[in-house]
Amino acid sequence: MLIAHISDIHYPAGIHSLHGKRWLGAFNLLFNPLRSFDSSVFPPLLTFLRNSGVDHIIITGDVASLALEEEYEQVRLAFEEARIPPSKVTIVPGNHDTYVPSAMEDETFWKVLGPYARSAGPDDYPLVTEIGVGGLVTIGLSSAVTSPCAMSYGVLGTRQLERLDDLLARYDGYTRIVALHHSPVHGLVCDGLQDSVALMDILRKRGAELLFHGHIHHTEVHHIDLGPGRGQLPVMSVSPALLKQKTAGKMPTIRMIDVHQGHIEHWLVKWSDRFREWRPER
Ligand SMILES: [Fe+2]
Repeated sequence: MLIAHISDIHYPAGIHSLHGKRWLGAFNLLFNPLRSFDSSVFPPLLTFLRNSGVDHIIITGDVASLALEEEYEQVRLAFEEARIPPSKVTIVPGNHDTYVPSAMEDETFWKVLGPYARSAGPDDYPLVTEIGVGGLVTIGLSSAVTSPCAMSYGVLGTRQLERLDDLLARYDGYTRIVALHHSPVHGLVCDGLQDSVALMDILRKRGAELLFHGHIHHTEVHHIDLGPGRGQLPVMSVSPALLKQKTAGKMPTIRMIDVHQGHIEHWLVKWSDRFREWRPER
């Protein structure tokens, strides 16, 4: 089974009709080069994935920058034009998808991206997707909450963590991929996952085979010791897929993961300005 992990698309859209916190976000997009994104590399990315024969695409949040309907519509259109069906995609929301209270109240992310997000609303998590018949399952979590200005923390909450506990037990023996926006191993009170200790306790108790996250805007792999008999949990993140400013350590990046009979192999795919295409590094 071939899985693609994409994160922090931050699809750029117009900055009209903005108020309050959205103005601050738009200012950041205009003047912070590490917060500038180029939508032109998104259609070639989806074409690359379709031609690669990917079985499932997991996007770990921050699809939008300002949680505008227009941003989600552009992403949905790109998937439709690439002829990638919703059944091959799981998207969990990030803090930018619930950037302002109205985006959460209107459920904008879910209303526009619903079929691709595979969920009907913010209470519809954990989100379970069995992939193929080879014992592979993704468990998508929502850590997206609307935080005060200049903060970007995430929260899973007791109900979601209890359901995750049950699901990890139910799918013991599968290759279990847990996907969420906020990292369980990075961040402070103002920008981290507030219940990361509770999440790690459940992962150590039940085990999991992979964890994907976004939010930190870095390509990293950490291995967390889950304790006796549980082995190591690979915790993976990728740089934003549409990043405009490209330096050696910050390139538009996605990760491909091949899961075959419980064996996991992974490699990066990066956008090449020179060749104007996405190129695997393997
Ligand atoms: Fe982000």
